[in-house]
Amino acid sequence: MHAYIVEGGRPLSGRVGVHGAKNSVLPILAAAILAPGESVIHNCPALSDVSASLDILGRLGCRTAQSGGTITVDATVLTGSSVPDALMREMRSSVIFLGAILGRTGEANLSLPGGCELGPRPIDLHLEAIRALGAQVREEPGGRLSCRGALTGREIVLARPSVGATENAMLAAAAARGTTVLHNAAREPEIVDLQAFLRALGAEVRGAGSSTVVIQGGKPLHGGEFTVMGDRIVACTYLAAAAAAGGSVTVTGADPAHCSAVTAVLQEAGCTVRSAGGAIELISRQGLRGAGAVHTAPYPGFPTDAQPPVMAALARGRGTTLFVEHMFENRYRHVSELRRMGADIRVEDRVAVVCGVDTLHGAAVEAADLRGGAALMVAALGAEGESRITGVHHLDRGYASLAEDLSALGARVRREELTFS
Ligand code: EPZ
Repeated sequence: MHAYIVEGGRPLSGRVGVHGAKNSVLPILAAAILAPGESVIHNCPALSDVSASLDILGRLGCRTAQSGGTITVDATVLTGSSVPDALMREMRSSVIFLGAILGRTGEANLSLPGGCELGPRPIDLHLEAIRALGAQVREEPGGRLSCRGALTGREIVLARPSVGATENAMLAAAAARGTTVLHNAAREPEIVDLQAFLRALGAEVRGAGSSTVVIQGGKPLHGGEFTVMGDRIVACTYLAAAAAAGGSVTVTGADPAHCSAVTAVLQEAGCTVRSAGGAIELISRQGLRGAGAVHTAPYPGFPTDAQPPVMAALARGRGTTLFVEHMFENRYRHVSELRRMGADIRVEDRVAVVCGVDTLHGAAVEAADLRGGAALMVAALGAEGESRITGVHHLDRGYASLAEDLSALGARVRREELTFS
């Protein structure tokens, strides 16, 4: 077990680059299954979810290799179409392998992904999409899912713009015979990255980033080479950290346009934000003020993944901010820990009212989920005194070099092994 020890109250300054996007590399690694060849994927972040994906690929018979940020996946020969429970449990988003395994082999056997810290994570939209393409889907005892059948392209309308369901439908449709038109698709930048990777494999996909994605399925696919986009949520986390601690920080490696809903809120709270040449500069000189109402929404709205770190930044300052979490039922688990640091936050169902306080105090706090952990780090940086953040394994799912990056900006953050005597 590890903990982050943070000495707060130090302004941040300098320049930091973000690693490749977790929520892009995961569906891309799954998509590599579709091509009977070798794919080379650059800018892959060193995250536990990436390791879990490599475990799944290996189990399916793919040969994988990793050198620095480059992962090679040779999917020439697959030896199976089943993902065991233990591997499915390693990563919540392992359901993203469904469409690719089914598309490549004609069948897929995996477990229903459990709920996670954010609440129930249904996959009904995923299953509706692959059923629409012609797959028979059987839910078996013990939470196993058995899918099989030849896939044929057709029009699909998603009941809601689910990121994962959009990705699964795109991957299955790429292997289906004929054309698929996917309506009400998610518009996240990671979907555009997935389209670009599929094109590198020889697939014909267009429209990603809009609500309608068209896939001409059945094209012969081959291995491809690709570089994953920068992680916009890591970028937003670092900007929130600069807002919380004060100072002047430039974040590179993520597209500023992908972060605009978040930088708009930080500007409303009194930060100066400038974007130029693919970099985002945030200056926070005086205390923050309330930012009005912040509603999480599908892209291009305010991203739910940025709600916890931005809330943590706004917990210290003068003024009130109202958060409404429309995407997940249980995404305020960081609030109780922020209160231990002196935050004044009241939660009623999906609404959180944050009244800025003059001072937050360092405390021993525990991360309950990935972005909630990021919130605790952001609050600790702006707090007086020392904080000890446990539950670091949650953070390791989405932040590859958190302590190093923040220390390079002048923060006092160290990672310690917990020993229980
Ligand atoms: C992706 O999750 C991201 N994960 C999440 O990031 C992100 O918060 C989320 O999109 C929203 O942007 C990855 O990309 C690996 P959804 P996903 O399907 O695909 C409901 C992080 O911290 N829904 O868009 O699971 C669902 O319950 C993670 O990096 C159904 O009802 O999100 C949720 O309320 C957390 N039925 C809403 O839709 C379904 O079949 C949005 O979920 C699927 C989803």
